[in-house]
Amino acid sequence: MADTADAPAVDIGPAEHRWFVVVALVVVFLFVVIIVTGLHWAAQPPSNVEAIDASRLHLAGEFMEGNLGTAMQPDGSALVRVLAQQYSFVPACIVVPTQTRVVIRATSPDVVHGFLITDTNVNTMVVPGFVAEVRTRFEQPGEHLMPCHEYCSIGHEGMWAREGRRP
Ligand code: CUA
Repeated sequence: MADTADAPAVDIGPAEHRWFVVVALVVVFLFVVIIVTGLHWAAQPPSNVEAIDASRLHLAGEFMEGNLGTAMQPDGSALVRVLAQQYSFVPACIVVPTQTRVVIRATSPDVVHGFLITDTNVNTMVVPGFVAEVRTRFEQPGEHLMPCHEYCSIGHEGMWAREGRRP
């Protein structure tokens, strides 16, 4: 008790004020970064900015039902088209060859979904109005899960698909 009473008074006011200014500057700086990058990139996905009319996917173009799934290309690669929608992937089971270049193109007719193939480099957002494109290659045959990893409403946890590879 006596120690604290006798301790010399230290005015921490100026230090508090300096730190307040530092923190305020950091917050302002972060806001400026968010606003400038948001305007500069026009709130678009960070990669593969390829626009598509999300309201007409089922009527025309490459994401019509008959075009979904795996299609071998003249150059020997496999092209996979996937629709991510509330609350499923179409198709729900994708089969691709091993030791082959695989190009996956995905889009969404409704909200933002996530597209991930476990144990691979495939991991992207699927944003309505844009086509997400990822490239990969499977060396070994096997089966992988494809969970949606962006919360897309109440059915999110049930949104799964499978990716299998034939030798
Ligand atoms: Cu689709 Cu979560």
